[in-house]
Amino acid sequence: MDKINQGGLSMNSQAQLTTIKTFAKSKLAADKTGHNFDHIQRVVKLANRLAKAQTKPVDLTVILAAAYLHDTIDDKLVASPKQAVNEVKELLTSLAFSSAQSDEIIHIITHMSYASNLNEKQVLSLEGQIVQDADWLDAIGAIGITRAIYYGGAHGEKIYDPEILPRTQLDKASYRNLADETIINHFYEKLFKLADMLNTPQARALAASRQQVMKDFVATFKAEWDAEA
Ligand code: ADP
Ligand code: NI
Repeated sequence: MDKINQGGLSMNSQAQLTTIKTFAKSKLAADKTGHNFDHIQRVVKLANRLAKAQTKPVDLTVILAAAYLHDTIDDKLVASPKQAVNEVKELLTSLAFSSAQSDEIIHIITHMSYASNLNEKQVLSLEGQIVQDADWLDAIGAIGITRAIYYGGAHGEKIYDPEILPRTQLDKASYRNLADETIINHFYEKLFKLADMLNTPQARALAASRQQVMKDFVATFKAEWDAEA
Protein backbone atom coordinates (compact mmCIF):
# COMPACT_ATOMS: atom_id res chain seq x y z
CA MET A 1 0.00 0.00 0.00
CA ASP A 2 1.80 3.08 -1.13
CA LYS A 3 1.08 6.63 -0.12
CA ILE A 4 -1.45 5.91 2.62
CA ASN A 5 -0.64 6.03 6.29
CA GLN A 6 -0.95 2.46 7.54
CA GLY A 7 -0.67 3.49 11.19
CA GLY A 8 -2.53 1.09 13.45
CA LEU A 9 -2.66 -1.83 11.03
CA SER A 10 -1.14 -5.17 12.00
CA MET A 11 1.34 -6.93 9.69
CA ASN A 12 -1.42 -9.43 8.91
CA SER A 13 -3.85 -6.69 7.88
CA GLN A 14 -1.21 -5.03 5.73
CA ALA A 15 -0.50 -8.34 3.98
CA GLN A 16 -4.24 -8.95 3.42
CA LEU A 17 -4.66 -5.46 1.95
CA THR A 18 -1.67 -5.84 -0.36
CA THR A 19 -3.25 -8.95 -1.91
CA ILE A 20 -6.65 -7.26 -2.11
CA LYS A 21 -5.09 -4.26 -3.83
CA THR A 22 -3.46 -6.50 -6.47
CA PHE A 23 -6.80 -8.29 -7.02
CA ALA A 24 -8.73 -5.02 -7.46
CA LYS A 25 -6.08 -3.62 -9.78
CA SER A 26 -6.27 -6.64 -12.06
CA LYS A 27 -10.10 -6.52 -12.14
CA LEU A 28 -10.35 -2.83 -13.04
CA ALA A 29 -7.26 -2.44 -15.23
CA ALA A 30 -9.23 -2.33 -18.50
CA ASP A 31 -11.96 0.12 -17.41
CA LYS A 32 -12.46 3.12 -19.67
CA THR A 33 -15.52 4.67 -17.96
CA GLY A 34 -13.90 6.43 -15.01
CA HIS A 35 -13.78 3.48 -12.61
CA ASN A 36 -10.19 2.43 -13.21
CA PHE A 37 -7.67 1.82 -10.48
CA ASP A 38 -6.89 5.55 -10.12
CA HIS A 39 -10.47 5.99 -8.87
CA ILE A 40 -9.93 3.14 -6.41
CA GLN A 41 -6.67 4.65 -5.11
CA ARG A 42 -8.38 8.00 -4.51
CA VAL A 43 -11.30 6.31 -2.70
CA VAL A 44 -8.88 4.34 -0.52
CA LYS A 45 -7.00 7.53 0.36
CA LEU A 46 -10.21 9.43 1.18
CA ALA A 47 -11.60 6.49 3.20
CA ASN A 48 -8.35 6.30 5.16
CA ARG A 49 -8.51 10.02 5.87
CA LEU A 50 -12.16 9.86 6.99
CA ALA A 51 -11.47 6.77 9.12
CA LYS A 52 -8.60 8.50 10.91
CA ALA A 53 -10.88 11.46 11.72
CA GLN A 54 -13.48 9.35 13.58
CA THR A 55 -13.79 9.50 17.34
CA LYS A 56 -15.63 6.15 17.52
CA PRO A 57 -13.48 3.05 16.95
CA VAL A 58 -13.70 1.67 13.40
CA ASP A 59 -12.26 -1.41 11.72
CA LEU A 60 -9.74 0.16 9.34
CA THR A 61 -8.99 -3.16 7.63
CA VAL A 62 -12.67 -3.60 6.73
CA ILE A 63 -12.84 0.00 5.48
CA LEU A 64 -9.77 -0.24 3.26
CA ALA A 65 -10.66 -3.70 1.96
CA ALA A 66 -14.16 -2.51 1.02
CA ALA A 67 -12.71 0.64 -0.58
CA TYR A 68 -10.39 -1.46 -2.76
CA LEU A 69 -13.12 -3.97 -3.69
CA HIS A 70 -16.19 -1.74 -4.04
CA ASP A 71 -16.26 -1.56 -7.84
CA THR A 72 -15.15 -5.14 -8.57
CA ILE A 73 -18.75 -6.41 -8.20
CA ASP A 74 -20.63 -3.48 -9.80
CA ASP A 75 -23.34 -4.57 -12.24
CA LYS A 76 -22.38 -1.88 -14.73
CA LEU A 77 -18.76 -3.03 -14.79
CA VAL A 78 -18.90 -6.83 -14.60
CA ALA A 79 -20.91 -9.33 -16.64
CA SER A 80 -21.98 -11.41 -13.62
CA PRO A 81 -22.13 -9.53 -10.30
CA LYS A 82 -23.12 -12.77 -8.53
CA GLN A 83 -20.01 -14.54 -9.78
CA ALA A 84 -17.90 -11.49 -8.91
CA VAL A 85 -19.26 -11.47 -5.32
CA ASN A 86 -18.43 -15.17 -5.00
CA GLU A 87 -14.91 -14.50 -6.22
CA VAL A 88 -14.48 -11.75 -3.60
CA LYS A 89 -15.84 -14.09 -0.88
CA GLU A 90 -13.31 -16.75 -1.90
CA LEU A 91 -10.52 -14.17 -1.84
CA LEU A 92 -11.47 -13.03 1.67
CA THR A 93 -11.67 -16.62 2.90
CA SER A 94 -8.28 -17.43 1.37
CA LEU A 95 -6.84 -14.44 3.25
CA ALA A 96 -8.26 -15.78 6.55
CA PHE A 97 -10.67 -12.89 7.18
CA SER A 98 -13.10 -13.77 9.95
CA SER A 99 -16.60 -14.52 8.68
CA ALA A 100 -17.85 -11.38 10.49
CA GLN A 101 -15.34 -9.18 8.66
CA SER A 102 -15.94 -10.93 5.34
CA ASP A 103 -19.75 -10.57 5.68
CA GLU A 104 -19.32 -6.90 6.57
CA ILE A 105 -17.10 -6.17 3.55
CA ILE A 106 -19.55 -7.95 1.22
CA HIS A 107 -22.50 -6.09 2.76
CA ILE A 108 -20.78 -2.74 2.27
CA ILE A 109 -19.78 -3.25 -1.35
CA THR A 110 -23.19 -4.62 -2.36
CA HIS A 111 -25.24 -1.86 -0.67
CA MET A 112 -23.24 1.37 -0.95
CA SER A 113 -23.76 2.54 -4.54
CA TYR A 114 -25.95 5.46 -5.53
CA ALA A 115 -27.86 3.12 -7.84
CA SER A 116 -28.63 0.61 -5.09
CA ASN A 117 -29.87 3.44 -2.83
CA LEU A 118 -32.39 4.75 -5.38
CA ASN A 119 -35.14 2.19 -4.78
CA GLU A 120 -34.70 2.15 -1.01
CA LYS A 121 -32.13 3.64 1.35
CA GLN A 122 -29.67 0.98 2.48
CA VAL A 123 -28.48 0.77 6.08
CA LEU A 124 -24.70 0.82 6.45
CA SER A 125 -22.37 0.47 9.43
CA LEU A 126 -20.04 3.40 10.21
CA GLU A 127 -17.36 1.54 8.21
CA GLY A 128 -19.75 1.35 5.25
CA GLN A 129 -20.76 4.98 5.60
CA ILE A 130 -17.10 5.99 5.41
CA VAL A 131 -16.46 4.00 2.22
CA GLN A 132 -19.67 5.38 0.67
CA ASP A 133 -18.64 8.93 1.58
CA ALA A 134 -15.20 8.38 0.02
CA ASP A 135 -16.74 7.00 -3.19
CA TRP A 136 -19.23 9.87 -3.40
CA LEU A 137 -16.58 12.51 -2.72
CA ASP A 138 -14.72 11.15 -5.74
CA ALA A 139 -17.89 11.64 -7.84
CA ILE A 140 -18.05 15.39 -7.10
CA GLY A 141 -15.79 18.44 -7.46
CA ALA A 142 -13.23 18.85 -10.25
CA ILE A 143 -12.62 15.10 -10.35
CA GLY A 144 -16.38 14.48 -10.44
CA ILE A 145 -16.85 16.85 -13.39
CA THR A 146 -14.09 15.08 -15.31
CA ARG A 147 -15.48 11.64 -14.52
CA ALA A 148 -19.00 12.60 -15.59
CA ILE A 149 -17.71 13.87 -18.93
CA TYR A 150 -15.53 10.79 -19.37
CA TYR A 151 -18.42 8.43 -18.50
CA GLY A 152 -20.85 10.34 -20.70
CA GLY A 153 -18.41 10.21 -23.62
CA ALA A 154 -17.82 6.48 -23.13
CA HIS A 155 -21.62 5.91 -23.25
CA GLY A 156 -22.32 8.24 -26.17
CA GLU A 157 -24.36 10.73 -24.14
CA LYS A 158 -25.13 14.17 -25.53
CA ILE A 159 -23.23 16.92 -23.75
CA TYR A 160 -26.33 19.06 -23.21
CA ASP A 161 -29.79 19.63 -24.64
CA PRO A 162 -31.94 22.38 -23.09
CA GLU A 163 -35.05 20.56 -24.41
CA ILE A 164 -34.31 17.46 -22.33
CA LEU A 165 -35.17 18.12 -18.69
CA PRO A 166 -33.40 16.31 -15.84
CA ARG A 167 -35.41 13.32 -14.64
CA THR A 168 -36.82 13.66 -11.13
CA GLN A 169 -38.30 10.19 -10.47
CA LEU A 170 -35.38 7.85 -10.84
CA ASP A 171 -35.29 4.20 -9.91
CA LYS A 172 -32.29 2.01 -10.61
CA ALA A 173 -33.53 0.89 -14.04
CA SER A 174 -34.32 4.39 -15.28
CA TYR A 175 -31.04 5.73 -13.82
CA ARG A 176 -29.13 3.21 -15.92
CA ASN A 177 -31.21 3.99 -19.05
CA LEU A 178 -29.02 6.47 -20.92
CA ALA A 179 -31.22 6.88 -24.03
CA ASP A 180 -32.14 10.48 -23.25
CA GLU A 181 -29.33 11.25 -20.83
CA THR A 182 -27.08 14.29 -21.12
CA ILE A 183 -23.89 14.96 -19.22
CA ILE A 184 -25.24 18.22 -17.80
CA ASN A 185 -28.46 16.51 -16.64
CA HIS A 186 -26.38 14.01 -14.68
CA PHE A 187 -25.35 16.86 -12.38
CA TYR A 188 -29.03 17.44 -11.48
CA GLU A 189 -29.93 13.75 -11.36
CA LYS A 190 -27.07 12.78 -9.08
CA LEU A 191 -24.00 14.93 -8.55
CA PHE A 192 -25.60 18.01 -6.96
CA LYS A 193 -27.53 15.73 -4.57
CA LEU A 194 -24.55 13.86 -3.15
CA ALA A 195 -23.24 16.54 -0.75
CA ASP A 196 -26.46 16.37 1.29
CA MET A 197 -26.46 12.58 1.26
CA LEU A 198 -23.01 12.20 2.84
CA ASN A 199 -22.90 10.43 6.19
CA THR A 200 -19.97 11.86 8.15
CA PRO A 201 -19.38 15.51 9.10
CA GLN A 202 -15.79 15.21 7.84
CA ALA A 203 -16.97 14.22 4.36
CA ARG A 204 -19.59 16.98 4.39
CA ALA A 205 -16.86 19.51 5.18
CA LEU A 206 -14.77 18.28 2.24
CA ALA A 207 -17.82 18.35 -0.04
CA ALA A 208 -18.52 22.07 0.35
CA SER A 209 -15.81 23.37 -1.98
CA ARG A 210 -16.34 20.46 -4.37
CA GLN A 211 -20.03 21.39 -4.60
CA GLN A 212 -19.14 25.01 -5.38
CA VAL A 213 -16.76 23.96 -8.18
CA MET A 214 -19.58 21.98 -9.82
CA LYS A 215 -22.17 24.75 -9.40
CA ASP A 216 -19.78 27.27 -10.96
CA PHE A 217 -18.97 24.88 -13.77
CA VAL A 218 -22.60 24.23 -14.75
CA ALA A 219 -23.55 27.91 -14.45
CA THR A 220 -20.60 28.96 -16.64
CA PHE A 221 -21.32 26.14 -19.10
CA LYS A 222 -24.92 27.35 -19.56
CA ALA A 223 -23.86 30.98 -19.89
CA GLU A 224 -21.39 30.03 -22.62
CA TRP A 225 -24.03 27.83 -24.31
CA ASP A 226 -26.32 30.86 -24.52
CA ALA A 227 -23.43 33.10 -25.67
CA GLU A 228 -23.85 35.13 -22.48
CA ALA A 229 -20.33 34.64 -21.21
P1 ADP B 1 -22.68 4.23 -8.14
O1 ADP B 1 -21.68 3.11 -8.36
O2 ADP B 1 -22.55 4.92 -6.78
O3 ADP B 1 -24.11 3.85 -8.46
P2 ADP B 1 -22.51 5.51 -10.59
O4 ADP B 1 -22.31 4.29 -11.34
O5 ADP B 1 -23.79 6.22 -10.66
O6 ADP B 1 -22.20 5.31 -9.08
O7 ADP B 1 -21.41 6.55 -10.98
C1 ADP B 1 -20.05 6.29 -11.04
C2 ADP B 1 -19.38 7.39 -11.83
O8 ADP B 1 -19.91 7.46 -13.15
C3 ADP B 1 -19.59 8.75 -11.21
O9 ADP B 1 -18.47 9.56 -11.28
C4 ADP B 1 -20.74 9.31 -12.02
O10 ADP B 1 -20.82 10.68 -12.04
C5 ADP B 1 -20.50 8.73 -13.38
N1 ADP B 1 -21.81 8.56 -14.04
C6 ADP B 1 -22.78 7.68 -13.72
N2 ADP B 1 -23.86 7.83 -14.53
C7 ADP B 1 -23.56 8.85 -15.37
C8 ADP B 1 -24.25 9.50 -16.42
N3 ADP B 1 -25.47 9.13 -16.80
N4 ADP B 1 -23.62 10.50 -17.08
C9 ADP B 1 -22.38 10.89 -16.73
N5 ADP B 1 -21.67 10.31 -15.74
C10 ADP B 1 -22.24 9.31 -15.06
NI1 NI C 1 -16.50 3.81 -7.08
